Formats: sequence, structure tokens, C-alpha cells
Amino acid sequence: MSTPWWRDAAIYQIYPRSFRDTNADGEGDLAGIIEGLPYLQRLGVDAIWLSPFFKSPNRDGGYDVADPRLVDPRFGDNAAAERLIAASHSHGLKIIFDVVPNHFSCDHLWFQAALAASPGSPERARFHFYEGKGEDGSIPPNNWNSVFGGSCWTRITEADGSAGQWYLHLFDTSQPDLNWENPEVAADFEKTLRFWLDRGVDGFRVDVAHGLVKEGISVDHPDPEGLTRALRFDAEFEDKEYRAHLLSNMPFFDREGVHEIYRSWRKILDSYAGDRMAVAEAFISPSSRIARYVRPDELHQSFNFDFMLADWNAAEMRVAIQQTSSELADVGAVPTWVLNNHDSSRVVSRLGDEGKARALALLTHALPGGLYVYQGEELGLPDGLIPDSARQDPVFFRTNGADKGRDGARVPLPWKSAEANFGFSSGKPWLPLPSEYGLHSVDIEELNPHSMLNFYRKSLGLRKSHPDLGARSELTWLYSHEGVLSFKRGESLTVVANTTGEQLSLPEHATQILLASNGDTTLENGLLTIPPHSTVWLSN
Ligand code: GLC
Repeated sequence: MSTPWWRDAAIYQIYPRSFRDTNADGEGDLAGIIEGLPYLQRLGVDAIWLSPFFKSPNRDGGYDVADPRLVDPRFGDNAAAERLIAASHSHGLKIIFDVVPNHFSCDHLWFQAALAASPGSPERARFHFYEGKGEDGSIPPNNWNSVFGGSCWTRITEADGSAGQWYLHLFDTSQPDLNWENPEVAADFEKTLRFWLDRGVDGFRVDVAHGLVKEGISVDHPDPEGLTRALRFDAEFEDKEYRAHLLSNMPFFDREGVHEIYRSWRKILDSYAGDRMAVAEAFISPSSRIARYVRPDELHQSFNFDFMLADWNAAEMRVAIQQTSSELADVGAVPTWVLNNHDSSRVVSRLGDEGKARALALLTHALPGGLYVYQGEELGLPDGLIPDSARQDPVFFRTNGADKGRDGARVPLPWKSAEANFGFSSGKPWLPLPSEYGLHSVDIEELNPHSMLNFYRKSLGLRKSHPDLGARSELTWLYSHEGVLSFKRGESLTVVANTTGEQLSLPEHATQILLASNGDTTLENGLLTIPPHSTVWLSN
């Protein structure tokens, strides 16, 4: 049996709204992605994953889906989606879509029907509608918070004008949670999976994969505010043990029932030819729980958020790498590596400088398993600074501005330095492109042999062609000098990362530098001199 493509694929995440705009409405579109395919092919990735572009009132960047089988007109139409699938394949790229099973948008016909129907009706039974507490039902059914802040319950007005039931939304008010105990919900998602699989998609990224099943809705949580903070990627949380404790037992996340759903999805995926796959977004703790989503009869991959959140610190990263790898090996799965996405800070901003981001990328590209690259990471983009008046993320609004939200990581891509909006759009971009993005434009970076873009092209190219990279060999840890992470891939490749602020000289058996994140790295007479905060690949 040949190795399935996704086991060591480099998958490029496209945030369609911010990739490339061809119709001057200030938002990217599917035609823009088709135009960008040669660029992605040249970058050396194997596949693309698109964040949602389905019909949506866009209250949470399209993760509020009003019709999962219809392309939103802002992005094109279903024919454009089919053209994109075909064009990706003809460029040698696999393509995966985002599926959002935890909730629908409040604009979805089902929710509109639920509002018009009465308590206890089959229409309401597709969501979580409950009576409020207190004499007049004005107290929410429980004290849980929305992941985006504020209560996760909203009270509706019944058709006769009276104050009515409450519905559950773990995210924004506009994202009512679906009731997965209702077989109609499962049937509708099966239809969606098949709809896109029939049209040739190679797989799905499963949004909030850990959220579908809720337990104990009648029970209050002891620290709902703490739990909300623990769930935010970039939140400061001093007491890591307490955070882990909060995350280890959540009434609405990571319940046993979700696995039954993925077993049924796996059967659907397996019934199609061509190694169709699914990757779980499961932000749960401890990491050993994640392995349960990628057991042989469930999903194929899961994002590795522990590694994404690890500091640029040899010891911490080694623990994250080792732990994930061994937990996943126990169920026969391979890890994935991700440095950032549309919900987190960009890696350059998180680490505070491009040199460290380059070193971390080179280290990451040498790890066994799948790799995810978030659009703009290959250009070394920092988060865009956005005036509060331009912000769009519901997190900003639901926390009254206390949490600035995720817009900084979603600023459109700069393509051409000399054009308006750096070539992203000839209209007014939905988020402003900061002037510093000009220097990171694709055209400028293409011409500079030392740019982040050309560095990514080299490392992704080697990752694809080298006999010991990807998932093609074992990882063996080497000596550990404090602050240094070092391992071998197979027999021929040695990776050394210096996470300290000092230049180090280390004895080294390898004979040749294959690629270094810092050009001042040298290897002479068995001595490796490696600058601060840098990584090198060496060969025998
Ligand atoms: C996921 C998405 C995020 C979205 C949330 C609710 O975490 O990545 O962008 O806001 O789900 O759908």
C-alpha cells in the first residue's frame, strides 16, 4: 500500500477573504485563488485548505454558515468552486474545505424555522432551546460563557411577541449550536460531506471538532470566566496548572459522544477513492486526549496546538515534540506541525522577530509528519496593526474591546509593492494593509534571494525531495547542550537549533551545511558555529 498523500503533506491555509481580490469588492475570491495557484505550486506546498467561503452573513468571518453547500456570492459561485478544485488538481495540489459542524448561522433556514416555530417543536429540536430560570424565565439556563465572551445563551422573542426560550451558542449570538442528538443534523452533514466529495475535494478541516456534544446543560460551571480565558489562544494565563485543570473537564467540549460522529464520517471518507482525509481542530488538553480523534477509525490528522503555543525554547519544544509524537504513535497516527493560523498571532509577531521565526520554521519543516503553513507566513508577515474603528472580529465586540481579537492575523496579502493596496485589490480592502506590508510583497521577496519567501521555497523544496524528510524516516534525538535542540532524520540529515541568545561552537560529525536560517553559520574542521536564535540542516 502506498503512503497516503496527507501523511507528510505541506498544506497551505488560505483565508479566502484576504488572499486575492479579482472583482474589486475589497475581499478575496475564488477566482483570486485560481490566479494564485502557480505561486503556491512554486512555493512547494502539496495542498491547500480554504477557510469557509460558504453562504454566510459573515458575522464570524464565514464560520457562521447559512448554507454549507452554496458558495457565498462574495467569493463567486458553485461553478467557481468546481473550477478551483479542477485547477488545483491540474497544478498538482490537493484541496481541502472547512466544515463547521458545531453551529450554523442564525440566517440558516433551519434556525429561521426554529424561531418561527413553537417551544418543543421539531424545528427547535435541531438546536439547543431551553426555558430560562427564575419565575419569568429571565435567567439563562446555565452560567456558561461563550468562547468569545459574554453568556452563551440568547433569549428569543416568540412569534406572539412574548419573551421566549433561550438558545445555546458557544460562539457568537449569530452562531446557534446544533443539537447532534438529533439524527437530522447528522444526516445533513453527511449530505454536505458527500456533496463536496462528489465534486472532488480531497478532504476537510473540521471546525471545533471537539464541540459537537454537550453534557449537563442544567449544571453551572464553577469558574466560567476562567474557562473562557483558558480557551483563548493568546490570553495571558499565569497559572498554567489551573489552566490545564480547567481545560481537562469541560461540559461542552471533548465529550465521549463526538467520537461516534467521526467514526461515521470516516466510513464516508473511506468510501471514496483517493485517500480523502479530515483534520480536526480540537483545542483540548491534555494533549493525550487529542490522539483519541485520530484513532484508526476516526479522523486522519489533528492540529498540534501544544507545539504552536510552545515558546522558542529548546526544552519546552522538545517536550511538545516528544509528547505529541509518542501519544500519536500509540494510535498509529502522525503529528502535524503548525506555527500560526487565522485565530492566533502570526509567528513573527508572537516570537518578536523574523530571525527567530525563520529558525523555528526550519526546525518545524524538519519534523516528521504533516505541516500547515498559514498564508503570509512564507512572506514573514507580522500581524497588521488595525485601528479599533476598522475591527471586525466578534471577539473584539463581545469583550467590549478588552480582547482586540484576531483581525491582525487576517490582513490581506501584499502581492505587488507598487500597486494600490499592494496588489491585493483595486477596491477598498476589508481590512487596511499596513505600509510595512509593502516590503513583504511577493514581487519584492521574489527578487531578493535572502527573503523569507525564497527561504521557504528552499526548505519546502528539500522537505519534499530529501529522502529522510517528510514522514520518510525516524527522528532520533542527539546530544543536548542547554538551549540547543538537535536530532537526526534517518542516517543522513542532522538538525541543530540554537534557541539561546549566544553564538555557540559545537563539535559536529556532519560534513556539510544543507540550509541555515542564518547565513553566518559555519562548519569547519568538525566544529559547527551557530549564531544565536538560528537553525541549521546538516548532511553527512
Ligand atoms: C474555529 C475557527 C474560528 C471560529 C470558531 C467558531 O475556532 O477557527 O475562526 O471563530 O471556530 O466557528
